Amino acid sequence: MKNILITGGAGFIGSHVVRLFVNNYPDYHIFNLDKLTYAGNLANLVDVESKPNYTFLKADITNAEELAVLFEKHKFEAVIHLAAESHVDRSITNPLEFVITNVVGTVNLLNTAKNAWKNNMEGKLFYHVSTDEVYGSLHDENEFFLETTSYDPQSPYSASKASSDHFVRAYHNTYKLPVVLSNCSNNYGQNQFPEKLIPLFIHNIQNQKALPVYGKGENVRDWLYVVDHARAIDLVFHKGKIGDTYNIGGFNEWKNIDLIKVVCKAMDKKLGRTAGESEKLITYVTDRAGHDLRYAIDATKIMNELGFKPSLQFEEGIEITIDWYLNNKKWLEDVTSGNYQNYYNQQYGEKFIA
Ligand code: NAD
Ligand code: DAU
Repeated sequence: MKNILITGGAGFIGSHVVRLFVNNYPDYHIFNLDKLTYAGNLANLVDVESKPNYTFLKADITNAEELAVLFEKHKFEAVIHLAAESHVDRSITNPLEFVITNVVGTVNLLNTAKNAWKNNMEGKLFYHVSTDEVYGSLHDENEFFLETTSYDPQSPYSASKASSDHFVRAYHNTYKLPVVLSNCSNNYGQNQFPEKLIPLFIHNIQNQKALPVYGKGENVRDWLYVVDHARAIDLVFHKGKIGDTYNIGGFNEWKNIDLIKVVCKAMDKKLGRTAGESEKLITYVTDRAGHDLRYAIDATKIMNELGFKPSLQFEEGIEITIDWYLNNKKWLEDVTSGNYQNYYNQQYGEKFIA
C-alpha cells in the first residue's frame, strides 16, 4: 500500500479529492491532514470515514514538529497539498493569517518532505494545488491565463498563494524535490462554505435575504465543477510531468450578475416562487477592495497533454449544485449556525492526532 498525504481534506475541494482517491484507489492509504479551521468540516466526509484505506490526522501545517512526527510515523510517499486560507474577503481583513498558513505552512510542509525523502526522492511527489488568482486580473477580453503568464497577484490571498507557488518551484530547483503544480479557476459544487458567492446566494435566496453584489456585478469568473477539479488533480498526480505546472479550467466564463440571475431563476422554479422573485433580492453593495476584474484560464495544456475534459456543462452542474444545497438543509444550517464545529469536529478538540 502506498501512503498518500492529502492536506486540507476536510475543506471544500479537499473533501472531493479525498473521496475520489479513497474510492478509486484501494491500493493507496489516504491520510487526511486537517487543522479543522472554520472551513474544515468532517461532515463532508461521512461517506468515506469508515473506509479501511482512510485515516484522519488532526494537525497544523504551520507546526513543523507535528509534521515531522507524521512523516516519520506514516512514511508518506506523496503529498497533495490543499490546506490553505482560501477566502479573498478574509485576506483583506486579516492578511497575516494568510501569510502564516499559506506561505509558512507550505514551506514547513516542503521542508518536512525534503527531510523525510532526502536519501531517496525516487517515486516521491509533492503536488501543490494553487489558484488562477496568482496571475492577477485580465482586462482584455481576448486574453487568457497560460502557464507562462507572469505572476501579478493583487490581493493578500493571491499574494500568499503566489509566494507558496514560488517556494514549491524553489524547492524543486534547489533541492531537486519532485514537485508538480496546478492552478485552477473558481470552483463550485456541493460542500462549499457559504461565504463564497454561489452557496452564499443559494442560502440567502432560500431565506429571503439580500444578495450583496459587489460593485456593478461586472467582474468575470471562470467556473469549474468541483468534481471535475478533483478529476483533473487525479490526472496531474498520476500523469503530470515533474517540475511542470498545469492550468485547470473549463472555458466557462460568467459575468457575476449574469451568473447570479441564472441562480435566481433556477431557485424560483425549484422553490415554486413567482418568476423574478429572487432577483428582487439583488442589492448592489460597495465593491471589494482591489477587486480583480476578470479571470479566464486557458486549459489547453492539461486537455492536450493529460486528456482532461470537464464532465459537465455549467447548466447541468449548477442544477446539481442547487439541488444538493436544497436537499442538504441540515448541512447548510449546521455550517451557517456554527453547529458543525460542535457536532462533528469537537470530538477532536485541540488535540494533535497522529
Ligand atoms: P477551504 O477553505 O474550503 O478548505 C481549506 C482547508 O484547509 C480546511 O479544511 C481547513 O481546515 C484546512 N486548513 C486551513 N489551515 C490549515 C492549517 N494550518 N493546517 C491544516 N489544515 C488547515 O478551501 P478550498 O476552497 O477547498 O481550497 C482548497 C485549495 O485549493 C486551496 O489551496 C485554494 O487556494 C485552492 N483553490 C481553491 C479554489 C476555489 O475556487 N475554492 C480554486 C483554485 C484553487
Ligand atoms: O479563482 C479561484 C479562486 O476563486 C480561489 O482561489 C479562491 O479560493 C476562491 O475563493 C475564489 O475566489 P473569488 O474571490 O473569485 O470567489 P468568491 O466566491 O469570493 O467571489 C466570486 C465573485 O463574486 C467575485 O467577483 C466577488 C463576487 N462576490 C462575492 C461574494 C462573496 C459578490 O459580488 N458578492 C459576494 O457576497
